[in-house]
Amino acid sequence: MNVASDIESVQRSVRQARSRGLTIGLVPTMGALHAGHVSLMRAAREETDYVVVSIFVNPTQFGPAEDFDRYPRPLDSDLMTCQENRVDLVFHPDGKIIYPLGFQTFVEVKGLQDVLCGASRPGHFRGVATVVLKLFNIIQPDVAYFGQKDAQQVRIIRRMVGDLNLSVRLAVCPIVREPDGLAISSRNQYLDESQRVNARALFRGLEEVRERVLKGERDAQTIREVLASRIATTPGAELDYAAVVDADTLKPVRELKGEVLVALAVKFGATRLIDNLILTV
Ligand code: PAJ
Repeated sequence: MNVASDIESVQRSVRQARSRGLTIGLVPTMGALHAGHVSLMRAAREETDYVVVSIFVNPTQFGPAEDFDRYPRPLDSDLMTCQENRVDLVFHPDGKIIYPLGFQTFVEVKGLQDVLCGASRPGHFRGVATVVLKLFNIIQPDVAYFGQKDAQQVRIIRRMVGDLNLSVRLAVCPIVREPDGLAISSRNQYLDESQRVNARALFRGLEEVRERVLKGERDAQTIREVLASRIATTPGAELDYAAVVDADTLKPVRELKGEVLVALAVKFGATRLIDNLILTV
């Protein structure tokens, strides 16, 4: 496995792979790799010939009061995880490589970036879209792998790929969960013991929604209330949003029909957790 921290050596390695006729798969990450990331690496390993994982804690997607400084950076164990999953190349740049002095170009996906997580994290998706476009340009993958865990991120990147005529194909992998249903996230390690137990409420709420919809519930407001009241009765939990939106436009719906995204963001102290469910009604 190759590890590179500068753009020239990454491009050299990728060029060599491409000249051997290999297809390139990219898994963009911020490190602190877990089973969710591994599922993307495995999909990339199965479907493409040369697998690149990027590990970069992207400063532009963190707000000033967010956890950029304390975001976990266990590089050695991350590299082991990549090795174990037969990754070919790890791209691990530092901030100055991606954002050199004088950097001032950003990508914005209007509308989609301002709702849901974008409403409570202004500028977040501008940072995400910008760094993902840079990674696409540097690596030029045939396929890029993302998790459904970050449903809005996927929607925004898909829009950017269409709007800017990028030739990458996006592959979206299902949410990987802990045995009790909690969606795996690098931020779960911030939770104390009781928060960790109570964090089950997100998945349980979404499961209840799934059951209600199976039994015929079609009113979006009822669904939002089911989620909000479950979070309200969970100790230590503070609802950020419980949304029922069109999966394509991310606009709120009144009645469930077609592809609907049910999305939830909940804070436990300073730790913000998200989860979601796509329903085809
Ligand atoms: P990060 O949070 O490290 O996540 C990297 C990828 O792993 C994302 O596509 C995310 O959706 C996916 N992922 C995380 N937890 C998952 C889970 N439990 N199941 C399935 N997939 C999961 O998302 C980012 O980094 C950044 O915003 C990035 C795209 C790298 C840009 O900086």
